[in-house]
Amino acid sequence: MTHHRIALIPGDGIGRDVTAAAWSVLEKAAAIGKFRLEGTEFPWSCAFYKQTGAMMPADGIQILRGFDAILLGAIGWPAEVPDSVSLHGLLLPIRKAFVQYANIRPHRLLPGVQGPLKAEAFDIVCIRENTEGEYSGAGGRVHQGTADEVAVETSIFTRTGVERVLRFGFEQARLRRGKLASVTKSNAQKYSMVFWDEITRELAAQYPDVEVTMYHIDAMAARMVMAPESLDVVVASNLFGDILTDLGAAIQGGLGFAASANINPDRSGPSMFEPVHGSAPDIAHLGIANPIATIWSGAMMLDHLSETDAARRIMEALKRTTASGIGTVPGKDRTETITAAVLAALD
Ligand code: NAD
Ligand code: IPM
Ligand code: MN
Repeated sequence: MTHHRIALIPGDGIGRDVTAAAWSVLEKAAAIGKFRLEGTEFPWSCAFYKQTGAMMPADGIQILRGFDAILLGAIGWPAEVPDSVSLHGLLLPIRKAFVQYANIRPHRLLPGVQGPLKAEAFDIVCIRENTEGEYSGAGGRVHQGTADEVAVETSIFTRTGVERVLRFGFEQARLRRGKLASVTKSNAQKYSMVFWDEITRELAAQYPDVEVTMYHIDAMAARMVMAPESLDVVVASNLFGDILTDLGAAIQGGLGFAASANINPDRSGPSMFEPVHGSAPDIAHLGIANPIATIWSGAMMLDHLSETDAARRIMEALKRTTASGIGTVPGKDRTETITAAVLAALD
């Protein structure tokens, strides 16, 4: 029997509820598909930080390296631990250490879900650069607390980093409708974004079968609202991709529907699967978090592990659930009601 070792990091707030929901669906899909999922849970979170002074143990990355994949809920409890500490202590180092450079975030409406737009027939996949750019963590502050204070945050774009994520996007476009949108702000940012545009043109010459369009981030934000059906694969830098994918979540009905896969395409380390959303402190403990984004992320994990039949079965169960009206309106159904409906629809 095939056997996959999964590291589970539920994290903070609703991360715990949605991970538990997704895990129950994954376990049932594994039983039906006759493969084994062995989950090992790690309590790494803001609560863990408060007990130990660190978001994960010093050898946390080494521990995770032994797993086939990571399923994560959400990290962050800003009322008690600053986000700059919690995210830089756990989530961001994992993406970087395992070279999960391609962050795949699909945006489409599940049946029965009413998005805020007139357009319904869109099917976008955002590929977000996930290891460098604006998230490089380079910078500093001088003259702190004085009128002369200066804060610098440096974006670092490398040829290797930009080329590999764009190439990944071109390959995805080939598997889909053959269209790639490259997003920059090269009219204002004259080093990094002009560099990104140049590499886009170089690769476009190698993929003559892919139709490439270059957009500025501001225009892309408007296009995702006004004409989302005109988009196929959208490739963007770390920060631009972060913002566009919350916008993508909004047009697909809300953050509770937006799934995400942090992929290491070279498979030199585990990939990580998590919803786009965060720990949602405003609804934590209410039992109303939508688990669909995390269940969908779990399906992406099974697909990555070559359990494609089980992945498809979960996506069908999600579609059947929302088509029946369950989980479609934020806050209407409880997490456990939605999860039970998905589990029933798996049969
Ligand atoms: P958020 O995504 O947690 O919440 C934004 C809004 O969306 C809230 O109103 C929330 O209730 C709603 N929402 C989110 N997920 C939902 C779901 N599954 N079902 C129903 N409603 C949902 O963003 P935020 O409030 O900016 O961040 C809260 C914390 O989470 C912060 O510490 C932030 O840094 C962190 N965060 C972590 C991740 C991650 O771990 N990947 C992602 C985003 C934010
Ligand atoms: C996401 C989140 C993270 C990001 C934060 C919590 C650092 O917003 O996964 O989209 O910006 O990557
Ligand atoms: Mn985000």
